[in-house]
Amino acid sequence: MQYQWYPGHMTKAKRMMQENIQLIDLIIELLDARIPKSSQNPDIDTLGKNKARLILLNKADLADSSVNQKWEAYFNEKGYSVVSVNSKNGAGMKAIQNAVTEACKEKIERDRKRGILNRPVRAMVAGIPNVGKSTFINSFAGKACAKTGNKPGVTKGKQWIRLNKNVELLDTPGILWPKFEDQETGKNLALIGSMNDEIVNTEELALELIRFLQKDYKGLLANKYGFDEKEMTETSLGEQRSSLTCGAGSEPFVILKTVADRRGCLQKGGEPDLLKAANLLLDDFRSGQIGRITLEEP
Ligand code: G4P
Repeated sequence: MQYQWYPGHMTKAKRMMQENIQLIDLIIELLDARIPKSSQNPDIDTLGKNKARLILLNKADLADSSVNQKWEAYFNEKGYSVVSVNSKNGAGMKAIQNAVTEACKEKIERDRKRGILNRPVRAMVAGIPNVGKSTFINSFAGKACAKTGNKPGVTKGKQWIRLNKNVELLDTPGILWPKFEDQETGKNLALIGSMNDEIVNTEELALELIRFLQKDYKGLLANKYGFDEKEMTETSLGEQRSSLTCGAGSEPFVILKTVADRRGCLQKGGEPDLLKAANLLLDDFRSGQIGRITLEEP
């Protein structure tokens, strides 16, 4: 499978980031808690050189809470302030104020030495498309200041949202381009739905998800779709091999067929509709209905 992001978008996003970054003291970097590494663009280190940085593990509600803690510890160890948040319901927002002060303490100290007191910290939210930037800005600002939506770049104009006497937030989030450094990163981005599903092979992706869940979260799929693990073997269903990478008869393939069966995804003639089942499975995963799942550990 080939994963990509359009170079035109990338150049524009980078230019915007470079322009806006000069105006700010602090980058509030949003990562997807389910894939903190794959949703981070490593170029942020160069772009945000000399700026304070606060990392937010957003969508923490969809991720495995014990792994959230591991990622927090990981980024803490690297010297960053980190907070796990759910921008949709506002969980974790209270902890951010302190984290902002913590992340900016050197700047605040520098200001103080120069006799500048109480100059607000100017911050910008940054992250890859769909990570929750607009939702976060709305939630953090406590009102609908920024439009939310699925497309990158829906927020226009350059305005500062005064959050309190200590923090001002640029209303336009910085868009970082996803970085497909390797197949694993591309796959993770595709799994959380950060890529147009039209350019990925949905069935293959669903089989990848099944393989991962059976390895790291055994029992979740059986529980969700109501099947017995012991039945998910090649011999019990006597499948033929097919062109799919997992192979018909392999456990992931049998599970996908079982999902089709349990959810009534059938083609005309009664054959299982694997594409429909794959879409259903991916939707269930992305909306957290299979469980709280993190795809990568530090
Ligand atoms: P962006 O600006 O970074 O591009 O992302 P945006 O805020 O538009 O959010 C993308 C999707 O992620 C939205 O869902 C939003 O509701 C969801 N989202 C953002 N933060 C969180 C979070 O912490 N937890 C969960 N569970 N979801 C989050 P959508 O399907 O596009 O819209 P909607 O149906 O939720 O309104």
